[in-house]
Amino acid sequence: METTLELATPDARAREQRIGVEVDEAALSYHSRRAGEVAALAGITLHAAPGELIGVVGPSGCGKSTLLELICGLRAPDTGGVRADPAVLMPQGDLLLPWLSALDNAALALRARGIGAEAARAAARPLFDRFGLNGFERARPAELSGGMRQRVAFLRTLLAGKPVLALDEPFASLDALTRAQMQAWLADALLAEPRTVVLVTHDVEEAVVLADRVVVLSPRPGRVVADLPVEAARPRRRTDPTLLEIRERAALALGLAA
Ligand SMILES: Nc1ncnc2c1ncn2[C@@H]1O[C@H](COP(=O)(O)OP(=O)(O)O)[C@@H](O)[C@H]1O
Ligand SMILES: [Mg+2]
Repeated sequence: METTLELATPDARAREQRIGVEVDEAALSYHSRRAGEVAALAGITLHAAPGELIGVVGPSGCGKSTLLELICGLRAPDTGGVRADPAVLMPQGDLLLPWLSALDNAALALRARGIGAEAARAAARPLFDRFGLNGFERARPAELSGGMRQRVAFLRTLLAGKPVLALDEPFASLDALTRAQMQAWLADALLAEPRTVVLVTHDVEEAVVLADRVVVLSPRPGRVVADLPVEAARPRRRTDPTLLEIRERAALALGLAA
């Protein structure tokens, strides 16, 4: 347990058998007394190859969070199939425990894996340096900026050691400048710790800047209405004409045409 990487990084031996994420014709309806039956997803198909970063954009309520819950095995589809490598959800909002230090919040993922408190802290601490949180190990979440809280939450997600990350609007609550910084930070973090990522966002620019492929969903019940490969080199510039063109196509698919 001397290196953090060993704990944070999924088992290398299992890497060859990776499937990534395979959602095939998955449908899911919610039943509630007040709203009756609500079809959240109707036959959605979405594949992510191992190591691929898929950006999923769609209008509010179209089933994006539901899709991530399917991928993480937190819900089963009514019909259709979901296969994925072990996946961890980073839920909407940072969901840090206010009474724990930043370090203990991050280490929580390791505690959940049965690792003792001191060993978990020791393993999480080096990542604080790497992720620009150096010196804030003992701070409570209320003492951190929004961007820092998101980084702690992401660190915790990473320390779960799963090959698939399901990120639910990770930067939605941040101001524009912090969001841009966090996007650059995430791109770097994934270079150092490659994962299969399904990134849900309602920000088309964010999806295009970060993703290998942008998938656009229809209003509820969510279906895929566009699947756009983003063939632009990294690091990316927002003003790259290729990115601007894909943003335009995604916006069109969302019905946001000028
Ligand atoms: N637990 C639930 N019970 C009933 N309806 C739900 C529940 N969760 C979500 N829904 C409904 O399902 C639809 C999809 O929800 P969700 O997956 O959260 O969408 P999104 O993340 O795209 O905003 C929405 O219309 C929402 O109101
Ligand atoms: Mg949602």
